[in-house]
Amino acid sequence: MPTQESVLSIVGALNQRYPHACSLSLGRPNPDIYARLDLERYAQVYQAFLRTEKHYDNAKIRENLYTYGPSQGMITAHLAKWLANDEGIHAGEKEILVTNGCQEAYNLVLLHELRQPEDCVLIIEPSYFGFTDCVAVLGKSSVKIAIDDLADPAGGVDFTLLPAVIEQYRRQGKQIKLIYINPDFNNPMTYQLSEAEKGALLAVCAQQGVKIIEDGTYSAFYYDGIPPRAIKTRDNAGQVYYIGSFSKTLCPSLRLGYLVISRHGDATFNHLLHIKDHTSLSSSALNQQIVAGFLIEHQYSLENWIRPIRDEYRARRDAMLQVLEQELDAGLLQWHAPAGGFFVYIRLPQEIDTAHLLDCAEGYQVTFLPVSYAVRDGRQRAHGIRLAFSYYPPAAIAAGTRKFCQFLNEKLLPQQI
Ligand SMILES: Cc1ncc(COP(=O)(O)O)c(C=O)c1O
Repeated sequence: MPTQESVLSIVGALNQRYPHACSLSLGRPNPDIYARLDLERYAQVYQAFLRTEKHYDNAKIRENLYTYGPSQGMITAHLAKWLANDEGIHAGEKEILVTNGCQEAYNLVLLHELRQPEDCVLIIEPSYFGFTDCVAVLGKSSVKIAIDDLADPAGGVDFTLLPAVIEQYRRQGKQIKLIYINPDFNNPMTYQLSEAEKGALLAVCAQQGVKIIEDGTYSAFYYDGIPPRAIKTRDNAGQVYYIGSFSKTLCPSLRLGYLVISRHGDATFNHLLHIKDHTSLSSSALNQQIVAGFLIEHQYSLENWIRPIRDEYRARRDAMLQVLEQELDAGLLQWHAPAGGFFVYIRLPQEIDTAHLLDCAEGYQVTFLPVSYAVRDGRQRAHGIRLAFSYYPPAAIAAGTRKFCQFLNEKLLPQQI
């Protein structure tokens, strides 16, 4: 795990150094989506809503756009409607905060929950580096458990092992207040927790007094089965902070996300607002107008919008999987078809580091993400690679994946013999 720089800056620099390489390293959305977006019109749709539904005159509409907005955000009623429709998450207007992406939402929850030196967050490693980097930069304390240490014999995740872990840390004076989980199409490991596993995690956390940060960034991108059901949908006690983003469903440049805190109570709400006043004051009014107009235009359900996007990602995933099956030895390497998300995870017999990454970029013009970058206590699962299939069309994904397989077969796997 690189210590000083963020993973994003390292991989970004690599992609800049090899601009012609096929980048399978970052989970960037399909750029073709952007041609379908009309951000200006969405803002106008929202302004028309203010005019007709709220009876705002032109001066008030202008002020709504140009002046400071409330720190909670001004579109929470729209988000609440849409979340109820598409995600089955029911929250009042006062139980949602608009954030500058998931990234700000992590900051808010960590600063709210971890206030004493002994308070810490439990991270199941490997986890999304945007979250783990955030914990490190804030100087908050964390404890780690490898996903392999929670493996159940049937191949799933056994959360009933957690209480013993939490107890053990308590005896060392560490209070685990939070656990971070990206349960649907995990980045970087690609797993999806089953309904039973989600229920077990919630039950264990309720019993232990540990709150969950549920990151639902990829929940709309399911390719094989039925839509995933967020842990938040069964949270009756204010146990779950649900975090999501428009970075993948619309575009990342909006930096618009949300934090759902239903049933957490007024004190939590007020403290989070206080923190938001200090992290960013408020999220961009223009970008909120765009998102609200987009939701209004789609009648508060993005299903029709996302369906073709999902179909395209499925084709990209399949193009990558087909080449992996053709080119790699399934006896030496392990991977499976992810049911959603943007990535394929390949488990390797040996550790992969920056030298391998540079070798592949230089010699084969392909970049990838060593999963060791998402781990701070290198354990078994650091022996892996994350490949993103989201950015390029199927033919380019296939070509890039073929070159990547060539690198593995010629440079890495011979060392095993
Ligand atoms: C698991 C996960 N959460 C959050 C994000 C990004 O969120 P945002 O752009 O809203 O900060 C990503 C982006 O790659 C991600 O993989």
